[in-house]
Amino acid sequence: MAQLLITGGAGFIGSHTCLALLEAGHNLIVLENYSNSSNEALRRVAELAGVRLGDRITLLQGDIRNQEDLEMAFSQEKKTIDAVVHFAGLKAVGESVQQPLRYWDVNVGGTCSLLGAMKRHGCRTIVFSSSATVYGYPKKVPIQETAIVQPISPYGRTKAAVEKLLTDVSESEDGWCIACLRYFNPVGAHSSGRIGESPYGMPNNLFPFVCQVAVGQRKELKIFGGDWPTTDGTPVRDYIHVMDLAEGHCAALEVLMRERPQVLTINLGCGYGYSVLEVVKAFESVSSMDVPFKIVARRPGDVSCSIADSTLAANRLGWVTRRNLVDMCRDAFAWQKDNPFGYFSKND
Ligand code: WQD
Repeated sequence: MAQLLITGGAGFIGSHTCLALLEAGHNLIVLENYSNSSNEALRRVAELAGVRLGDRITLLQGDIRNQEDLEMAFSQEKKTIDAVVHFAGLKAVGESVQQPLRYWDVNVGGTCSLLGAMKRHGCRTIVFSSSATVYGYPKKVPIQETAIVQPISPYGRTKAAVEKLLTDVSESEDGWCIACLRYFNPVGAHSSGRIGESPYGMPNNLFPFVCQVAVGQRKELKIFGGDWPTTDGTPVRDYIHVMDLAEGHCAALEVLMRERPQVLTINLGCGYGYSVLEVVKAFESVSSMDVPFKIVARRPGDVSCSIADSTLAANRLGWVTRRNLVDMCRDAFAWQKDNPFGYFSKND
């Protein structure tokens, strides 16, 4: 099995992927600046995996933009890094519009620093956390990887830029094994209810907001638009269980480490969509809780329908999703009930 460097491994996707990677037998060094996460997530990941912190999972506090921090990560005693799984980055679409410099600095500048450190230490295998937002307004749904890349937010543009950077690096010298994984809508939580999504403050995304309404932390859900060209007028998304997404990373890593150097760009989604109202109804049925809502004006930047064509993931990675909307709602609700303030305490 491999020694991996995981950047941003305490985040929502990162923590669930760390668990899946430990269960697949890999050893991890996690580099985190905890700007938007808590090391409590990684403490619980170790607990769930039945390993001791410092044993098969080592935590390092640092920033991917800081060369010394990267040298520290790559120079861990007797731990040559075989591959990197790169989650570290900023990911709020709305915030990126207000703070483009910060998003380009962290997401693109940080990845440049990381790739430089990888080159210096002879590590040329990387799985990159990309996003379906690179597609912007899709021309055709389901969306294939060959669809035009035309992001409509600074956040999406930084993801598209890193994909281009990775292609340039792979063309500049032999030996690079790269997977850009374009996530659709990751939701849910590990079935134990011990790790999950822990947004700071008011959630931007649908699932954490619905969870907070269901447990009574928020009064009602505002549904952004009831006049979209969809079956019930509310927008449709391809929601994917975060543990399916985590397993998709394991599958991509296995392919990169087994095959010749290449660049893979692959959608990770279920391949079918649910409307906001369908999610609300599923949530109410699974949780037996009411989710009061009010339909309000559309949110700027939203699209009516975003669904992955997940054929390539099945064919190239041998990976398909195994969990459905009921699993997503059940696991998200269990996490929210047991952790009403996520990893933070009530007074944070
Ligand atoms: C889903 C649907 C909203 C909140 C975002 C990012 C994307 C990716 C996933 C990182 C939409 C509706 C939402 C609410 C609502 N993240 N909604 N009321 O916008 O599809 O994608 O998260 O890569 O980059 O853009 O996800 O969960 O915000 O919204 O009606 O309070 O729920 O309009 O149709 P989105 P979302």
